[in-house]
Amino acid sequence: MLASKFAEIFGKDPEIVASAPGRVNLIGEHVDFLDGFVLPFAISDVTTVAIAKNSNSQIRVASLQKNCEITAIEISNIQPMTGEPWTRYPIGVLWALGPKALNTGLDILVDGQVPLGAGLSSSAALECAVATAVNQLFNLKLSLPDLARIAQKGENIYVGMPCGIMDQSVSLMATKGHALLLDTRDLSTEQIPFDISPLGLELLVIDTQVHHALVDGGYAERRASCEKAVADLGIKSLRDITVAQFEARKSELDEKTYARAFHGITEMERVLDAVALLKSGDFVGFGEIVTLAHQSLRDNYTVSCPELDLAADTANKFGALGARMIGGGFGGSAIALIKAKDSELIKSEIRSAFMASKFKAPRFFSALPSQGACVIN
Ligand code: GLA
Repeated sequence: MLASKFAEIFGKDPEIVASAPGRVNLIGEHVDFLDGFVLPFAISDVTTVAIAKNSNSQIRVASLQKNCEITAIEISNIQPMTGEPWTRYPIGVLWALGPKALNTGLDILVDGQVPLGAGLSSSAALECAVATAVNQLFNLKLSLPDLARIAQKGENIYVGMPCGIMDQSVSLMATKGHALLLDTRDLSTEQIPFDISPLGLELLVIDTQVHHALVDGGYAERRASCEKAVADLGIKSLRDITVAQFEARKSELDEKTYARAFHGITEMERVLDAVALLKSGDFVGFGEIVTLAHQSLRDNYTVSCPELDLAADTANKFGALGARMIGGGFGGSAIALIKAKDSELIKSEIRSAFMASKFKAPRFFSALPSQGACVIN
């Protein structure tokens, strides 16, 4: 279907088709730019790209979700932070790859099936689909960590969003049935089995439908606070200080910097605790830590919003083992680890609570750990 659409738009067949998924994050939020550990998994929604070389020295991109209108840019004119916003994600990857990818024109058609603005990393899915396709098309033989770094560089500099490296890493490295324990310091990984359906459990995703316009500004500002804490304390990274050592130096930081860095340091600990609990099959304990993470994101890091709080609180009130906001925050999605038998009740209670608060109706789906990026043909 994408290939035939490509032929219709660009007048030839694609040379390569690749896809990459969005993600949810079980725990480890806002620590992927602090050398922390994170535990995301890939969802089944993917973005697919079809690509072929062209001989007119242009990058031409079109999307099924944007009426297939072609945006064309001369390779020699490629400049960070320019062009139609959505096109900066695929072009940013090519820019970050540099002459390896930009020695010829390319035609790119995108089919993005990861919901936009829902905190499920539609941007990383698009970047990683392009990175995977181009890696194969030009036989670059780049490793998955290298591709993740390139996609992140494109987003940091070409798009201008100072994201960490979690979303790109999981989109590329995820395996079916597992959450990815990623050490963002060196991109080493461990695949952690997360096969909850046989246990009668479900990971419910609640998309609050809130798309906060200031998400990027708020994100960068929180990240800057953590970097300030590192500078004020004269350490290399928040990863290098224990909670007790950090507490002992509290007076060296202003209140806001302290609270935000406290989230980062305690969140790194929570990830490792959560992994230990998962490995021992203690989903009740795991759920409790997930809820603690939400409280810290809400109270210390201040990136939640009333809709996310209501979604998490209502899920917990009606029997979830744990619930929290995921991703950058200020809107987007929450997750709740629930007993599958409670699914309808919890969804209906969240729907009613949202209605009573005059919030937009939320959307729900159940997430299963899925495969990372792949070349389709
Ligand atoms: C966004 C960023 C990630 C990560 C999360 C918060 O999704 O893209 O790098 O920082 O927020 O954990």
